[in-house]
Amino acid sequence: MADKKQKEVVKQVLQKHQHDKALLVDVLQDIQAEIGYLPKEVLVETSKGLGVPVSRVYSVATFFKAFSLTPRGRNLINVCMGTACHVRGSVKVLEQIEKELKIKAGETTPDLKYTLETVNCVGSCALGPMVIVGEDYHGEMTPEKVVSVLANYK
Ligand code: FES
Repeated sequence: MADKKQKEVVKQVLQKHQHDKALLVDVLQDIQAEIGYLPKEVLVETSKGLGVPVSRVYSVATFFKAFSLTPRGRNLINVCMGTACHVRGSVKVLEQIEKELKIKAGETTPDLKYTLETVNCVGSCALGPMVIVGEDYHGEMTPEKVVSVLANYK
């Protein structure tokens, strides 16, 4: 069962979009913006509210990489794995982060401090390997440098 706050968020977002089934992606985006992720109970609530099968809501929520069905960390780390960054050593940078945070790409630390993801080319190839934390771009990353960069994010 979705808790009271989650139910209220779903209700408000559905009202905003006038319960339009065609706007399912927008609905999920807005709900995630409010709650931080899309808990299973919220998908069920959305399905009921919109009158679409829960399987459809679930498939949309899992299809788009921007949606998360598990809680996200306060700091989203994206390691660029595009060709240019790859050639310049992004795999080693990613491995260092995984070792440091004790999580794999796609996971969140248990204290919800960091979520680690990979991304393909963020358009700053000349500065690779690129690591993006939140809105901040960090170029020419090395396994050594990345540990101190992460320490700046609480
Ligand atoms: S490949 Fe990483 S920024 Fe282009």
